[in-house]
Amino acid sequence: MSDFVVSARKYRPQTFDTVVGQRTITETLKNAIKSGHLAQAFLFCGSRGVGKTTTARILAKTLNCFNRTEQIEACDCCDSCMSFNTGASLNIYELDAASNNSVDDIRSLIDQVRIAPQLGDHKVYIIDEVHMLSPSAFNAFLKTLEEPPKHAIFILATTEKHKIIPTILSRCQIFDFQRIKVKDIAQHLGVIATKELVTADPEALFLIAQKADGALRDALSIFDQIVTFSGNNITYQDVVTNLNILDYEYYFKFISFYLQEDIPSSLLLFNEIVEKGFDNHNFLVGMSEHFRNLLLCKDERSVPLLEVGDIVEQRFVAQSKELKQAFILRALSVLNKADVEFKSAKNQRLLVEVCLMQLCSLQSEGEKKNP
Ligand SMILES: Nc1ncnc2c1ncn2[C@@H]1O[C@H](COP(=O)(O)OP(=O)(O)OP(=O)(O)O)[C@@H](O)[C@H]1O
Ligand SMILES: [Mg+2]
Ligand SMILES: [Zn+2]
Repeated sequence: MSDFVVSARKYRPQTFDTVVGQRTITETLKNAIKSGHLAQAFLFCGSRGVGKTTTARILAKTLNCFNRTEQIEACDCCDSCMSFNTGASLNIYELDAASNNSVDDIRSLIDQVRIAPQLGDHKVYIIDEVHMLSPSAFNAFLKTLEEPPKHAIFILATTEKHKIIPTILSRCQIFDFQRIKVKDIAQHLGVIATKELVTADPEALFLIAQKADGALRDALSIFDQIVTFSGNNITYQDVVTNLNILDYEYYFKFISFYLQEDIPSSLLLFNEIVEKGFDNHNFLVGMSEHFRNLLLCKDERSVPLLEVGDIVEQRFVAQSKELKQAFILRALSVLNKADVEFKSAKNQRLLVEVCLMQLCSLQSEGEKKNP
């Protein structure tokens, strides 16, 4: 077997400070460890791949470390840290509630919890996907959660907080993990690319980050996929092709057709997009997003809200100078209307085409109104 390890596992952060985009949570945990006021039950909520399990493991490792650093991080070299690093520590126990959701599973966990740790002084129990526990398993668990032995810390993790019953919620300290910002993901990918000796266009990494939709694990999986596809040099074009994304380039072109009121060219370009297999509705959404970006560029204070790389950002700024704000607003309202009507339209392609024609007529319409 080859020794290839996927990036998401290879680059799982080992210290609080290397967790991306969850600063408030990691700082709070560090302060709690420092002051000795650590709760015994936590609920980590948030969407997939944002660092819940990772943070839980770091907490376990740091709590048990014999020589914690001044910054409240694990030393990474004492006996306890070594056993964590090799996966041999008995002070961390992970239960996947999705596949172990019966009362018996919880009973055997509760029996486990009574045993004090051998090395170090905290045992951390991570119960993943805790919303999957059966109601009777939840009930069996309540008492232990309320009065756990001194050495035990429970970390319940879930992607679906609304499914957790109030009796559990009220016994836990709750941390809501944020989806990670596109810019932070792109930057993190850049660091990993360097470590993997991969050269990558910043624009390519931004595109991956956007596609990942706030989840760092997804971003890393996509990154691996593209490295497999295109080797150690990733270009913007590689990502566009591989992920079947509609290139920004198309939208920039559409805008210039709107300005020239060039209906035939818009329709031909749209046809090209349809022939490539792109979805009509995604196109509408993408077009609206493009106009949103242009609107943001109308004032330099809102430019940082763009979630694209520097080069594309400059192009947005440049294109926004060619358009009046009123034009952008009218375009957005045309697109919005098409979006609302899309689902009920019998001929969706025609709806998009009519929308394109309207966008191509906005320029002179505006002049009629404000000569
Ligand atoms: N905030 C983050 N900072 C750095 N890396 C992260 C972060 N979140 C996720 N990752 C990467 O993604 C991988 C998976 O993260 P983790 O297991 O912590 O996600 P999770 O929130 O528990 O997701 P799930 O809900 O699917 O269990 C990690 O090994 C790491 O490489
Ligand atoms: Mg997890
Ligand atoms: Zn240590």
